[in-house]
Amino acid sequence: MKKNILVTGGAGYIGSHICLELLEQGYAVTVMDNLANSSEKALRRVEELAGKKLRFYKADIRDRSAYDEIFSQNEIYGVIHMAGLKAVGESVRDPLAYFDNNISGTVVLLEKMKEHHVKRMIFSSSATVYDLTQRECLTEESPIGNSTSPYGRTKLVIEQMLADLYHSDESWSIVLLRYFNPIGAHESGRIGEDPEGEPNNLMPYITQVAVGKREKLSVFGDDYDTPDGTCIRDYIHVMDLADGHSKAVKKFERKGLFVYNLGTGQPQSVLEVIHAFERANNLKINYVIAPRRAGDAPKYYANADKAKVELGWEAERSIEEMCRDSWNWQKNNPEGYR
Ligand code: NAD
Ligand code: WQD
Repeated sequence: MKKNILVTGGAGYIGSHICLELLEQGYAVTVMDNLANSSEKALRRVEELAGKKLRFYKADIRDRSAYDEIFSQNEIYGVIHMAGLKAVGESVRDPLAYFDNNISGTVVLLEKMKEHHVKRMIFSSSATVYDLTQRECLTEESPIGNSTSPYGRTKLVIEQMLADLYHSDESWSIVLLRYFNPIGAHESGRIGEDPEGEPNNLMPYITQVAVGKREKLSVFGDDYDTPDGTCIRDYIHVMDLADGHSKAVKKFERKGLFVYNLGTGQPQSVLEVIHAFERANNLKINYVIAPRRAGDAPKYYANADKAKVELGWEAERSIEEMCRDSWNWQKNNPEGYR
């Protein structure tokens, strides 16, 4: 029988790509999502691309009553937990919403997993858990904490909660995956990132300028201590990230608490991303230099050696491929899934 993976937040940007990868790798997929920031259309398109069906439950991870149906109707092998709110600025304005949704939601999910004897979890964590004031190149051993936002703190608290849970009961298998900056889309252009309103992140902003939805991109600061003065990040193709998850699922065969960075280790500045996008797509991006954005660290990127050694995973796609696939999605879906 196929192993059945429950993906919370599976209708979202990263989740939809992971569902597709899992179906293609021969897993059965069950999705739990309240569609707070996504569309069921993404899941229908995942099914079209895979030529296979998944099971969808429109439900909130905080809703205790939702789980009995999910766990009784499906023999869940393990959970990839991606459900959560992720807008950094919104989390500063409404921290309680983030604590409730992300932290309380995870507590309920874990209680229900335990009740149903499912003790395998991959958690969508983030490079934001690191203390970004101390190091630029981050290994899994780099200091954590000092988060600049309530969103970041939810990731840190959940990581610590999962470590405490593991130490209380070593029959769990828990994998913390710290993503760097996921961009790109499936090469078909059928699924991709579909932010509501004004994008918070760089790549969706660039693609919306390219498609004519926004007049110009503001580059937040060109006076940082970096070669071209703009901030440097480690952008990773969402399909490489999806591949990382299907490799991490193999860790479920062992009990333990594991943590991995998922990044390329090849940092890019904001201007380098803009120029890569222009080159890859033969387009010009209208941009202006604007003031710094509060809370931005000048430079950080992953050392992803541990994932290479222990998961046999390595990011393969270039920044040009990320830019090409982001644009392919945006130009074919100017209104996203709407
Ligand atoms: P997304 O918003 O597209 O996906 C999150 C999904 O979770 C959405 O479909 C949303 O409807 C769902 N959701 C939110 N709250 C829920 C709840 N209470 N119950 C059920 N479903 C709920 O975001 P994404 O970019 O795909 O991110 C997925 C995960 O990865 C998140 O946990 C995010 O914090 C984490 N992450 C994202 C990034 C990034 O840059 N995109 C980086 C690091 C970590
Ligand atoms: C990248 C660079 C901006 C928009 C965020 C979260 C982080 C993680 C990934 C979830 C920065 C610059 C951006 C724009 C710009 N998410 N920029 N103009 O801030 O590195 O990380 O997403 O866990 O927690 O903080 O990503 O895409 O917002 O910004 O100049 O309109 O692009 O200043 O240097 P960031 P981003």
